[in-house]
Amino acid sequence: MLITALAHLLILGRPTGSKLKVAVLAATGMVGQRYVSMLSNHPFFRVAVVTGQNSVGRKYGSATATSNLPIGKDAKGLTVKATNADALDDVDVVFSPLPTDVAKTLEPELARAGFTVITDASPHRMDRLVPLIVPEVNPSHLGILEQQRKVKKWKGLLVATPNCTAAGLALVLKPLHDTLKLKKVIVSTLQAVSGAGYPGVPSLDIIDNVIPFVKDEEEKVETEPLRMLGELGKDRISPAKFDISAMVHRVATTDGHLESLYVETEEPFVPDKVEKILKSFRGEPQKLKLPTAPAEPIIVSNLEARPQPKLDRYAGTVPGMSVVVGRIRKGLDSRSGRLTLLSHNTIRGAAGSTILTAELMYRKGLLS
Ligand SMILES: NC(=O)c1ccc[n+]([C@@H]2O[C@H](COP(=O)([O-])OP(=O)(O)OC[C@H]3O[C@@H](n4cnc5c(N)ncnc54)[C@H](OP(=O)(O)O)[C@@H]3O)[C@@H](O)[C@H]2O)c1
Repeated sequence: MLITALAHLLILGRPTGSKLKVAVLAATGMVGQRYVSMLSNHPFFRVAVVTGQNSVGRKYGSATATSNLPIGKDAKGLTVKATNADALDDVDVVFSPLPTDVAKTLEPELARAGFTVITDASPHRMDRLVPLIVPEVNPSHLGILEQQRKVKKWKGLLVATPNCTAAGLALVLKPLHDTLKLKKVIVSTLQAVSGAGYPGVPSLDIIDNVIPFVKDEEEKVETEPLRMLGELGKDRISPAKFDISAMVHRVATTDGHLESLYVETEEPFVPDKVEKILKSFRGEPQKLKLPTAPAEPIIVSNLEARPQPKLDRYAGTVPGMSVVVGRIRKGLDSRSGRLTLLSHNTIRGAAGSTILTAELMYRKGLLS
């Protein structure tokens, strides 16, 4: 016990008893439940507050019948509070998978009041002063927070996690753009029903069916990766200069978004070389050995018909955090190629990426 506590102090710089207190807003939703489950026994963070809407007043352990994810015993006994600043006590970090309309007004209010909010919701993702982060892709964009403080005069901070489809896509485009320089990306998606929250798409609409539309999704997939792959300047992030065209589909899988890509590159697209580039990619979270960082952010499968949601969504050392890529092959000419990727939407596309961002901010001294 003493050895564990000393090791903790040496590695993390904090005694075991003093983990940062976090609040999970909308903790009973599809993403909220992922947070609470992933934060059980987390070395830096302890869930101290859970909030909701219809489940307010219930014990968290009995308010989350929509999934069977394991929940830590601390969180099980918490009472779900109403979602407002008064409920948050003195938490150090607020994880916010709020519904869009609520996030739009409440998140800036919380940041103004002094809370550090990291959000999975969409309204502030394209605000020029809000960093949109996938920790392996653009950790340096956290640098815009200095401007955010100056210009918005908030006592706290607001950081965003991208759209669930854009997160996995950006992770794969990053090493490709760094090495082959992307000119054009065409992506067609097959997105799981959990991406629509609970209860999501009516069963009679989705069973035995594919719906070639997800509201506002194509716009997000076409813009957010460009922002993440862009350059941080003095007071803004200039987007990367290539084009993305997206065609999205909702399919009857539970978790995991599959994305088929066609890319045009300035450098030759050589499948064996691309495989090595993707396999060897590591980001700052891997270098820092952050607790939620998978050893391989991108896993390449050479099996014929992979990746598949059912078989691959939990691949890797931190289940759900690795993107699995397969079917790397040439396109129409030597400077184009094709591949398929799979990314877990509520983990890499939401709670997992956001927890990893919080771990990175903690290590960079951005959390109190
Ligand atoms: N699902 C995904 O794959 C995914 C991925 C990335 C980002 N996101 C984003 O994450 C957010 C949550 O998505 P989700 O899939 O978790 O949705 P969800 O399963 O529908 O859950 C909705 C949650 O919001 C709470 N809620 C509803 N109205 C509220 C209000 N007025 N004030 C406070 N809380 C309220 C609900 O609490 P009660 O149960 O107590 O009513 C519930 O916890 C959305 O912004 C979504 O776009 C989702």
